[in-house]
Amino acid sequence: MNSKSKFITTPVYYVNAKPHIGHLYTTIIADALARFYRQQGVPAFFLTGTDEHGIKVQRAAEKNAQSPLKHATVHAKHFQDLFEKFNLSHNRFIRTTDQDHIKSVQHFWKTLEQNGHIYSGVYKGWYAAQDECFYTEKEIVDGKAPTGADVELIEEKTHYFRLSQFQQPLLDFFKKNPLFVQPKERFNEVISFVEQGLEDLSISRASVTWGIPTPSDPALTIYVWIDALCNYITALGYPDTNSEHFLTYWPESVHIIGKDILRFHAIFWPAFLMAAKLPLPQSVVAHGWWINRGKKMSKSLGNIIDPNELFDKFGPEPTRYFLLREAPFNSDGYFSEEALIKRTTADLSNDLGNLILRTTSMFVRYKAHLLSATYDKNIINNTYSLKDDLTKHMTSYQITRFCEKLWSLIADCNRYVDHTKPWQLFKEKNFEKLTNALFTTLEMIRCIALYITPILPDTSDKILNALDIKQSERSWLCLRHESAINSDNRIVSCGVLFPKEL
Ligand code: MSP
Repeated sequence: MNSKSKFITTPVYYVNAKPHIGHLYTTIIADALARFYRQQGVPAFFLTGTDEHGIKVQRAAEKNAQSPLKHATVHAKHFQDLFEKFNLSHNRFIRTTDQDHIKSVQHFWKTLEQNGHIYSGVYKGWYAAQDECFYTEKEIVDGKAPTGADVELIEEKTHYFRLSQFQQPLLDFFKKNPLFVQPKERFNEVISFVEQGLEDLSISRASVTWGIPTPSDPALTIYVWIDALCNYITALGYPDTNSEHFLTYWPESVHIIGKDILRFHAIFWPAFLMAAKLPLPQSVVAHGWWINRGKKMSKSLGNIIDPNELFDKFGPEPTRYFLLREAPFNSDGYFSEEALIKRTTADLSNDLGNLILRTTSMFVRYKAHLLSATYDKNIINNTYSLKDDLTKHMTSYQITRFCEKLWSLIADCNRYVDHTKPWQLFKEKNFEKLTNALFTTLEMIRCIALYITPILPDTSDKILNALDIKQSERSWLCLRHESAINSDNRIVSCGVLFPKEL
């Protein structure tokens, strides 16, 4: 791994409603990536947070008869609590109402203005509050936004950003950076959208009061998407582009998003950054949607799955595993409790849980630590070298493949136990073979526990604790014979990791 550092971000989530599994999903993906990089010894800064300005939040607060800030604070807490419950490892939870962010956005705006990319005008056209997005006449289908959101006709004073001037620079940038948007299918959508031509973008709102005032005309507020996108650089210390954080993490950034907000991240954001003369992010990775009862999960459709309920019913790690395992990024995921139960019973309770329980118990029962450790070097070499494929899958954002590969190792390990039959070797008092079989299995399990960290961090810890592996020996750099398990490890039985009645 030769990257010097990684900046992993999620979108900042709107605080108009409570979080659902779509929000949790994106954040879990970012968490898995951050943990993966950290485990390679690569410093990773993981950022998440809430998007608190704009008409959508303003209206939600009005509906609750609350001030927008009070409303935002209550809802931001729902996200914070959820991420804490799921043991997510973010380095900062940013709120777009944070003071440093407000300063950062105003500075960003002034820079765009000074660089000649903003002019005043009037916006007359369609706006969808649900998407916080302006739509052109030709995008409107049957009186609705292409997303199905309601639109309203607005006419108001505004500022425009000269997006049209960035068509060619964007296309040139895309050509030079074929991995800028992943998966590939999404990149093709972005390129064809830009090829069709870009219109200048309205970037301030006269009728929206809940927002950051534009520096030149405080009666107007800055368009919520400029505000929101800037969170990625605020968190690194912008406008101080010489701060240690900025220099370490920008532009080593991976923006994890859902495909619904690709246009903002893959077109507007790079254009804004070019206009501000800042380097562009390394990649934008868009996953699909979680579908429930045939439709994208969303508050307006009333088909939301509450992640707190999944937490109570199934626990954080089975829920996390299901979300990461079930849907590749280039397709949607179909949510059902039956599918979650089926997947986690098979993979977690049966394959992984059983393996760990039976092998650690046998080790303890047969007092294998009293014997001097030997193991099958060929099998273990193959187990170590699996890290290349796993790294390839994770760094190309194919987490489902990562899991598949890892579970084939778990299956191999189970087969090895079935084949060597330690219980029989014990009965036959064939202690030499017994030691070899048990230490080979436990060394495979040590590797499995290290590989599994990004997917199931808590389970990984439980297994490594049972194997008596020191905290300082839990990195992938320890996938080597020098760190192999031996008779000094005080191994205890791991117990049941995933109860069957899940
Ligand atoms: N506030 C903007 C993002 C600004 S980022 C600079 C926003 N917020 S949101 O609350 O609507 O969250 C959108 C994100 O939530 C999506 O991009 C996706 O990551 C996640 N999901 C929301 N619904 C989803 C599904 N049904 N399925 C999967 N993820 C989805 O847009």
